Amino acid sequence: MLPPGPATPAAAQTIEWIARPTHLLRRSAARYGEPFTLRTLWADAPMVLVSDPATVKRVYAAPEASLRGGASSTVLEPFAGPSSILLTSGEAHLRQRRLMLPPFHGERLEAHRATVAALARAELDRWEPGRPLRTLPRMQELTLDVILRVVLGAPAPQLRAAIRDALDMTTSLPRLIALSLAPRGSAPWRPFERAVGRVDALLRATIRARRAVSGERAPGDDHPRPAAQDPAAGGRAAPPVTDEPIAAGGRAAKPILDDLIAAGSTEDELRDQVVTLLAAGHETTAGSLAWALERLARHPRVAARLRDGDDAYLDATVKEVLRLRPVLSITPRKVVEPFPVGEWTLPPGVHVTPCLYLAHRRPELWPEPTAFRPERFLEGAPAPYSWLPFGGGVRRCAGAAFATMELHEVLRAVVRRFELAPDRPEGERMRRRGVTLAPSRGGRVVPLA
Ligand code: HEM
Repeated sequence: MLPPGPATPAAAQTIEWIARPTHLLRRSAARYGEPFTLRTLWADAPMVLVSDPATVKRVYAAPEASLRGGASSTVLEPFAGPSSILLTSGEAHLRQRRLMLPPFHGERLEAHRATVAALARAELDRWEPGRPLRTLPRMQELTLDVILRVVLGAPAPQLRAAIRDALDMTTSLPRLIALSLAPRGSAPWRPFERAVGRVDALLRATIRARRAVSGERAPGDDHPRPAAQDPAAGGRAAPPVTDEPIAAGGRAAKPILDDLIAAGSTEDELRDQVVTLLAAGHETTAGSLAWALERLARHPRVAARLRDGDDAYLDATVKEVLRLRPVLSITPRKVVEPFPVGEWTLPPGVHVTPCLYLAHRRPELWPEPTAFRPERFLEGAPAPYSWLPFGGGVRRCAGAAFATMELHEVLRAVVRRFELAPDRPEGERMRRRGVTLAPSRGGRVVPLA
């Protein structure tokens, strides 16, 4: 017996999960209480949702032998690949995490701060005062540019376009529904598979070129590779990292691809690691930035206070955006050993997940939960396991510190340069775009000089 939940067939719940995700979550919590169970075709078994801090803590603290991460994200496999950190578990997962964490922290994170600020200023140069713009696509370009430089050490324009083409295919709701209901390999999947194929070809060529530059060979490869051409960089020779013009103001950091190559990953593993970083490392940050701008345009008082340059208030604003508009709503784990939740014992095979969206709106933890009020984060730290935009435990977002730095730098640059006005008074709804929840009209604002 599982906790109660909607009785509609999985296909109907999948359509609602795609077309009205936050409505489905709110309605289910109100009708069935917590925990409740959803059945969608995005997972191979029912998923039990929880949001109270005590249960969330138990989920994030559970060892992998009890709740396994990586086994609930099969929906991501066609793009991320089977050896993606999002899909591995146990020792394989930890090995990848140990490789990925250092480049996104400490000195290496700081080495990227000037690059992010410079790219943000270059983006703002293109904004025309008085002309409404959709911030989401602009922020996607910007954050993809940032992560390409961090991971590959180069802007890679062709790869950038190919990644956006593939991801943009999952933003049309009818297409996302068709992909979710049809088996992989069937007709609705073909255009997406072709788009992923283009990403793969460019990425593999980039990896080989970088290997040649860094003098590393693929495991099992006895032959030195020829001098590198980097097709993703537009056919130019793969540039040495130190030639990065945008980082001229600061010290250019070693691209993460070099760490991954040095760790002896195979080409297939490198492909999956890199594509995961590129996608996870920009779509989420772009959505959060678009939400920040959508909210700031409707809260000029907050924007004005940010303009005063108070870093604590900037941090509080970023935290409030991530609370009120979490771009990812769940962080599922698969039950391996019977797992007690309330009066139920969840059997092996089902999924259990903290629901970030519902956790961030619990009225006993967040007074006036739907109000955008950064001050709440200056009034004291939130209760443990109540603020979860980056998930938790051994699978907590590897890029959380990096994403926070990006959000700080971009928002700082925007408020210095522009006042923002909404194009309409009413706020935008949370609409599904692939796995993220983004502003329904693309975060439209009017920048004013
Ligand atoms: C505002 C921006 C971001 C948000 C809201 C976000 C959120 C998340 C969440 C909720 C998870 C799942 C955590 C869990 O299962 O407990 C995750 C995982 C991950 N994120 Fe992020 N993320 C953001 C930006 C980034 C960036 C910039 C990068 C890379 C530079 C990144 C890389 C990753 C990776 C590699 C994982 C998998 C971690 C693992 O399985 O060990 N994310 N992220």
